[in-house]
Amino acid sequence: MAKPDDAVTKLTRESSDVASPGGVRRLNYDELFTPSRTIPLAGRTALVTGASSGIGKATACMLAQEGCNLFLVARREPQLLEIKTEVEKRGLPGKVTVVVGDVSKDETYDALRTAGAYDQVDIIVNNAGLARGKEPVGSALLSDWSEMMDANCLGAFRLVNELLPGMIARGGGHIISTGSIAGLESYENGSVYCASKHALHAFMKCLRYETYAKNIRTTVLAPGFVGAGTEFSEVRFKGDETKIAATYAGMEELSASDVASNIVWVLQQPANVNLDLVHIMPTCQGGATRIHRVAAPSS
Ligand SMILES: NC(=O)c1ccc[n+]([C@@H]2O[C@H](COP(=O)([O-])OP(=O)(O)OC[C@H]3O[C@@H](n4cnc5c(N)ncnc54)[C@H](OP(=O)(O)O)[C@@H]3O)[C@@H](O)[C@H]2O)c1
Repeated sequence: MAKPDDAVTKLTRESSDVASPGGVRRLNYDELFTPSRTIPLAGRTALVTGASSGIGKATACMLAQEGCNLFLVARREPQLLEIKTEVEKRGLPGKVTVVVGDVSKDETYDALRTAGAYDQVDIIVNNAGLARGKEPVGSALLSDWSEMMDANCLGAFRLVNELLPGMIARGGGHIISTGSIAGLESYENGSVYCASKHALHAFMKCLRYETYAKNIRTTVLAPGFVGAGTEFSEVRFKGDETKIAATYAGMEELSASDVASNIVWVLQQPANVNLDLVHIMPTCQGGATRIHRVAAPSS
């Protein structure tokens, strides 16, 4: 882990190497003709919540491929163990620790502490979350609202609250939260999901203000439609196959791996670079409710 001042020191040294007489920082051609600047993640320790499916699962697998040690968190144990087995089968060097639990429950934090996460994690992929139901206000179920607020807000906030002090004490880290286009634009029938993601975005902005002087990088990754590899619509529409199919009809939505590869790219930025907000949508999506769909050819 780079110490807080390493990036600043490095920039200052480079500046003095190539400073013009006026002191303006100039880049030489060796700096300009380089492949894009990214840093390796091998040996880092990442905690991924919502790792049993979708974006979290794809991110966990990609981080394992990059050589990270992993803490995998979700409520379904078999799915997490399957990833651990797959990482080991592939002979990847990182250690995988499975922690089964709900991010909004006390027991999960006891288990994380026992497993050593509080002492080791320097990357948090704060991703567990869900949309449940798509009814207008007035006919929504309170239990759906509670489930979303517990996971998307209280769980996500608490995870950071618990692990941040250790990260600061160890010299820094990176917290990346899976926000949503729903945290930037509200849409009809998505009231509490949109509210929960707006709250997450607001929380992350406060976190940025509170930690930028402590070598903590924070990022909101806000995707639009993500389908392949996720159970998002299955969960939202409670298994209603017609509604699930209609969600992605006639469009090429993002896959979980498309989002994961952007999460990994964000994490690979050099120490002096912080991406505060990455908003990623499929090419055919212009906004929360603007989707270009192509009708299936009639047979
Ligand atoms: N798919 C999209 O279109 C889309 C767009 C924007 C943002 N997002 C956000 O992306 C994140 C990941 O969603 P996804 O699309 O990958 O859906 P997904 O395939 O359904 O994955 C959701 C993950 O979150 C976990 N999870 C849910 N509630 C949890 C809780 N209380 N405690 C612990 N884990 C919990 C689930 O695991 P268990 O059930 O095993 O606990 C699962 O691993 C969510 O925050 C979602 O809001 C999704």
